[in-house]
Amino acid sequence: MDIRHWAIFACGSLLLTGVASAQSDIIVLPTKYRTDTATFKDYATNGAESCFTLNKDTPLVTLDYGTEVGGFPFFEVDTLSNVVQIEAKYTEAESGLDAPFGDGPWTFSNGLSNTFRVETFNVTFTGQTESFFIQGGLRWQSLLLLTEGSVRICKAGIRSGNDRTAVDALPGYFESSNSLYNEIWALGPRTVQQACIAANSAPSTWEVTEDGVYLRGQQPAQSVEGASFGNYTMSFHTQIVRGGTGWKVAAGVGGFGPYFVLTSGYPSDSTFVNTNRTIVPPNTLTVGYGWNLVNQTSLTTGKINHDDWPFTIKENQWYKISTSINATGYSVEINGTEIFVPLNDLQIVSASIGSSGSLTGGTWGFGPYQDQIALVKDVEVYAENGTLLYQNPMTSDSVLEEFGVLANTHSLCLDGAKRGRLVWSGDFIHTHRVIQASTARSDFLTGSLEYWIDRQASDSSIYSGYFSMSPAMGQSAKYTDIYDSFGLLDYQLFFLDCFAGYYKHSGDEAFIAKYWTQIKKGVGAVLPLIDEQSGLAVATNGAFFSGSSNGTAVSALLAYTLTQMAEIASAMDETDLANNWTSRADSLKDAIQKQLWNSQFGFYSVDLSDADEQSITGTAWSILSGVSNDMQTESSIAALSALRLGVGYKTSTSVSNASTTDLSPFLSGFLLEALLKSSRDSLNNSDVKKKAISILLDQLWAAMVAQNEYYTGGTWEYVYPDGSPGLDLYTSHAHPWSAAPTYVLTGYVLGIQPTSPGFSKWAFRPAILDVDVSWARGRVATPHGPIRASWRLSGNGTNVEFNVCGPTNTTGVVSVPFAVESYTVDGTEQETGGGNLEVTVAGGSCANIHVTRK
Ligand SMILES: *[C@@H]1O[C@H](CO)[C@@H](O)[C@H](O)[C@H]1NC(C)=O
Ligand SMILES: *[C@@H]1O[C@H](CO)[C@@H](O)[C@H](O)[C@H]1NC(C)=O
Ligand SMILES: *[C@@H]1O[C@H](CO)[C@@H](O)[C@H](O)[C@H]1NC(C)=O
Ligand SMILES: *[C@@H]1O[C@H](CO)[C@@H](O)[C@H](O)[C@H]1NC(C)=O
Ligand SMILES: *[C@@H]1O[C@H](CO)[C@@H](O)[C@H](O)[C@H]1NC(C)=O
Ligand SMILES: *[C@@H]1O[C@H](CO)[C@@H](O)[C@H](O)[C@H]1NC(C)=O
Ligand SMILES: *[C@@H]1O[C@H](CO)[C@@H](O)[C@H](O)[C@H]1NC(C)=O
Ligand SMILES: *[C@@H]1O[C@H](CO)[C@@H](O)[C@H](O)[C@H]1NC(C)=O
Ligand SMILES: *[C@@H]1O[C@H](CO)[C@@H](O)[C@H](O)[C@H]1NC(C)=O
Ligand SMILES: *[C@@H]1O[C@H](CO)[C@@H](O)[C@H](O)[C@H]1NC(C)=O
Ligand SMILES: *[C@@H]1O[C@H](CO)[C@@H](O)[C@H](O)[C@H]1NC(C)=O
Ligand SMILES: *[C@@H]1O[C@H](CO)[C@@H](O)[C@H](O)[C@H]1NC(C)=O
Repeated sequence: MDIRHWAIFACGSLLLTGVASAQSDIIVLPTKYRTDTATFKDYATNGAESCFTLNKDTPLVTLDYGTEVGGFPFFEVDTLSNVVQIEAKYTEAESGLDAPFGDGPWTFSNGLSNTFRVETFNVTFTGQTESFFIQGGLRWQSLLLLTEGSVRICKAGIRSGNDRTAVDALPGYFESSNSLYNEIWALGPRTVQQACIAANSAPSTWEVTEDGVYLRGQQPAQSVEGASFGNYTMSFHTQIVRGGTGWKVAAGVGGFGPYFVLTSGYPSDSTFVNTNRTIVPPNTLTVGYGWNLVNQTSLTTGKINHDDWPFTIKENQWYKISTSINATGYSVEINGTEIFVPLNDLQIVSASIGSSGSLTGGTWGFGPYQDQIALVKDVEVYAENGTLLYQNPMTSDSVLEEFGVLANTHSLCLDGAKRGRLVWSGDFIHTHRVIQASTARSDFLTGSLEYWIDRQASDSSIYSGYFSMSPAMGQSAKYTDIYDSFGLLDYQLFFLDCFAGYYKHSGDEAFIAKYWTQIKKGVGAVLPLIDEQSGLAVATNGAFFSGSSNGTAVSALLAYTLTQMAEIASAMDETDLANNWTSRADSLKDAIQKQLWNSQFGFYSVDLSDADEQSITGTAWSILSGVSNDMQTESSIAALSALRLGVGYKTSTSVSNASTTDLSPFLSGFLLEALLKSSRDSLNNSDVKKKAISILLDQLWAAMVAQNEYYTGGTWEYVYPDGSPGLDLYTSHAHPWSAAPTYVLTGYVLGIQPTSPGFSKWAFRPAILDVDVSWARGRVATPHGPIRASWRLSGNGTNVEFNVCGPTNTTGVVSVPFAVESYTVDGTEQETGGGNLEVTVAGGSCANIHVTRK
């Protein structure tokens, strides 16, 4: 509950006073803290608040929240000697505390959060100081006193809109004899708790006033109106409130392009002492080309240029700035004085995404640099011939929609808590199943699905029928074609599988019926991926993320998807369509089996042109789609040993064995499910499956549990072969695309899965033979209520005891693949017809089963 609002319970009904908002924030305090280099102490022991004093001798405090948390950072000042400046720094990995920019900045998208991981506060009063911006996700924070004086702080923390329910109190739960696996299971729920953002809990980062938009330092947000404009002059009026003002022209709507920052003369009364004068010197026009003014790992920004301004730029005064684009550069005029920035002086870097694709074309945007504040109003854009093309006083709320910075209105799952912060559809292939296995937050399932469904490319787009793959929070569905985010074609397949996966768990027929027209069109849009010559999947306008054209992975994924969608078509009584999609899936499978099985090497070839190469996704999807027979499955799992690299598997043969190769838990998640599925369905133990399962769980995912300096309680985007986070500080440490073990452990090791939509029928069928677990127990939330189940091995694995209770109106079937000698149900000996175990559990009842293996 937001502490500013009051909730009153009266006569059993809930009356809300104050702002009618869905927001229900919680206060998250650190678990530990230390001043300077002293050792960490428990924070707020015995319920008392922990106070610390920052002064000349101890200017620094480090706060450790124990696990990932996102929200509005705040601190409460108890006593204050005089006005002071305090710098806060945030990071997921501990070493980010020593980096000048923390683990940021996040220059890829606005994300309705702070772009910067360092921010400065001018503390003038006792009581609470709170950041204007959300910090998307962090474990560590520091507060550094920058100026003379002394400040005593008695409470510091994060006001969070995210759910922090303890993992063992969630609707879904998993526990086993293997404490490492229990920790790995828990990474998933914590990750979705932080990476999924509830409706109305992320406000706009722009403030609209009658003097124009009031912009605090943040990654510029771009207008959708100028996406197709070129060679124009964009002018606006701006008042620097602190430090500087920033803008873009000729930019992609995604924000890549030239970036201009004009700084003030840095008057001493408003200038923070930590202002980085190397990047943004006073009274200067700073220009960079790319994402921002600094490099961030793979998001390159060209070197920055500095042009001294001939006279002092004053704060709190209006200036008119015009920027004209021509073929040789950008001409910037400020109150009549001009500076020309030749393209030749800029370092023009390129980007695969986010760019307008042109140095002279593309839209405009606004956003000052770190800790700066500026007002922007009266924007006008003129064509080369002098025609007024666009005019906006920037004083109405409609700018939020135009610039893609609307407060979030849907409950959405992002790719990562701190970074990306885009609603990536492909990532949701794992995310939705983690939610189903743990938090059971259907608002995030339907909210995210509807967000994509609302964003389907129109018939005038070459992607007609495709759903946007990475819309940002804050972007309006109206502009789906302009944001043009469709290029990863397998993300469409993953999205369709998420839609089917939602139905499988929920049985929510009203939902699929509501969106059936769009979904049918979405399936129609992927059918042309089937190549007429090869009968396999090939990328048309775009690329695949998870495999190559004419390859095993994407062809098997397409077959799998068409099979899932045929089930939806059947549920919608469209039998012809269902048959059509099923037969196309079968043809794809035949084409894979005929052309891509390499019998010499004993694996599925990565694609037609690289017959001697294999990939983890090829192996995974050949198993998950049912292409691979038992012999091929065993053989291709054995062949994985050639892909071993450090703590895991590299994605394909052609990837180098370098220490800087990123191992992908996202793609490894598909392999993990494939291994467990084939193990669950096998009659016999398999050493190669056991080894591969162990590599993934005991090494790759164990890395995310075992190392305190990187630990956030969440799953990491990438992992280096040595087990440290891939992509360095940039890596997201709360990336649900890496959280497959949560649902794999629930679905295959605990062994509970729906076998008809909404769990009206379900299976209790654990994978017992190749997993280092001797007992497991847990619960699975279903629309009918929870299923509670446990199993335990004894007698060296010859005896298995199962206990399970199913909800009313459902039917469960308990089974194992291996032959059984004898078994009892609730103490009564049963006939073992043919040595199989198959026990039906009627709705609303429990069963206790003792099995002796043959
Ligand atoms: C200022 O920016 C420069 C250039 O990016 C960087 O090397 C330096 O560490 C920064 N200094 C501080 C104090 O942040
Ligand atoms: C901080 O606030 C005080 C009191 O309002 C003001 O005098 C001072 O100029 C401010 N400093 C900065 C850096 O904004
Ligand atoms: C960013 O790094 C690239 C090299 O990868 C370099 O060419 C470029 O100048 C750097 N940009 C900045 C702003 O330092
Ligand atoms: C800049 O020009 C505008 C008129 O366009 C004027 O109102 C403003 O006072 C000027 N600013 C300064 C600092 O001279
Ligand atoms: C671009 O504008 C600059 C400054 O006004 C001018 O010097 C230059 O000749 C122009 N280039 C072209 C190709 O028009
Ligand atoms: C801008 O003008 C140049 C030179 O006339 C031309 O080559 C370029 O295509 C134009 N750019 C756009 C986006 O129209
Ligand atoms: C001026 O340029 C704009 C944009 O390119 C175009 O739409 C308009 O027709 C032109 N007007 C004249 C008078 O040439
Ligand atoms: C796929 O394979 C077919 C048959 O060999 C070939 O005609 C086609 O060009 C291939 N497509 C791609 C994108 O590799
Ligand atoms: C599926 O339907 C399409 C369009 O109606 C048709 O062209 C195609 O031959 C059908 N394919 C199969 C395998 O039924
Ligand atoms: C990379 O490592 C694997 C597994 O150890 C090995 O089979 C393969 O030959 C190595 N590849 C290269 C190019 O060194
Ligand atoms: C389990 O197997 C081991 C080795 O095969 C044997 O020493 C032990 O007695 C067995 N224990 C039981 C309970 O059967
Ligand atoms: C079971 O299903 C019946 C018929 O649909 C329904 O009336 C009843 O409420 C259901 N019971 C529970 C506990 O869901």
